[in-house]
Amino acid sequence: MSHGPETRILIWILSVFCLAFAAPAPQSLREAAQHSGVLIGTAVRPAQLSEAAYAATLAREFNLLEPEDALKWEVLRPDAQSFDFRQPDQVVDFAARHNMRIRGHTLVWHRQNPPWLTSGDFTPDQLSKLLETHIKTVVGHYQGKIFAWDVANEAFDEGDRTGKLRSTIWHDQPGIAVATTHEPSAPSNPAPSELGARGSPSPYSYLAQCFRWAHEADPAALLFYNEAEAEEINLKSDAIYAMARDFKHQGVPIHGIGLQMHISNLHPDIASISANIGRFTALGLQVHITEMDVSLQVDANGNASSADLQRQANIYRQIADACLAHPGCTAIQTWGFTDKYSWIGSHSKHTQGAALLFDSHYRAKPAYEALRNALAAR
Ligand code: G3I
Repeated sequence: MSHGPETRILIWILSVFCLAFAAPAPQSLREAAQHSGVLIGTAVRPAQLSEAAYAATLAREFNLLEPEDALKWEVLRPDAQSFDFRQPDQVVDFAARHNMRIRGHTLVWHRQNPPWLTSGDFTPDQLSKLLETHIKTVVGHYQGKIFAWDVANEAFDEGDRTGKLRSTIWHDQPGIAVATTHEPSAPSNPAPSELGARGSPSPYSYLAQCFRWAHEADPAALLFYNEAEAEEINLKSDAIYAMARDFKHQGVPIHGIGLQMHISNLHPDIASISANIGRFTALGLQVHITEMDVSLQVDANGNASSADLQRQANIYRQIADACLAHPGCTAIQTWGFTDKYSWIGSHSKHTQGAALLFDSHYRAKPAYEALRNALAAR
């Protein structure tokens, strides 16, 4: 069938119009995430920023960065008087050059603290002053640059079976002196022994105080409580929920919950994770997936089976879908992006690994495609 000249011209005009205005398929995670309302992030190591493939992949794929270790006390605090911002400043510079947001991690934690702090035999008053100065100086230094902070990290007991606060230098060994007391509201499922009698200081007071100090230093920053093993509904996430609800009632400036999402078995309970995200966002809090990786069994060369790589991809996709289903879930971040640099290998004697989106040669894995498809489908 031949067309007349008018029809051919019309077809030509339509083709040009379609080519000009059809949305191109997303090329990168950050392009796919652009219209999703969700930031796509990764933890970064400043020492690697000078590696061309590392920097290029980072800039191309992500719009959110978080220093993996560079904002921790052991890096920032050579002694009780000084601050060394050189490492995190490199990350901040990189993010500024590539139009990326930054999450800060972390102000209060029981690990990666310098020996002068942990062995200093400080009194609660001295510790309190040290922590106040630390939080206000660090948050103040990055005011307007770091948009969200993990104020406190992993303050609850290891595992998900007690829901009790962890014994730490900040909480009770000897703990910081907390001036404020309040009557905690009655959470429905906390660890009752931890709640204290009516009128006694809330066990969460030291954490509440940290959020207040951070808020004073940068009133515009979003303040998160970040935790491991609290992704599903369990005793630990119940306790965090009770604390967050208590903070909201007391006017403590908390804006979000970070769910780390280090997945080491291939059977996470996605329905439970989704319900957990839902209950935190229903409190008016944002949820960020902050440290996602899915570790796999690897051989002596660090390679996983293709079946496991596909299972891993499905998990990345399911977690992304669970986040995207809740408008209050506003960031998906992985704990590194290349298997070349991941904390997993270093703690598992190299039997586990291959946990991230790119292999150690920066080649995209099935998990990358799965995550990109999830973001693009939003
Ligand atoms: O800084 C020293 C360096 O001077 C030294 O040469 C080198 C020799 O091994 O060690 C360096 O310190 C290491 C540090 O990372 C910086 O690279 C520590 O040994 C190492 O233990 C430390 O591991 C970090 C770990 O937290 C410590 O608990 C990982 O990189 C980091 O990925 C991991 O991150 C945590 C999150 O902060 C909280 N959630 C869990 C997550 C995974 O454990």
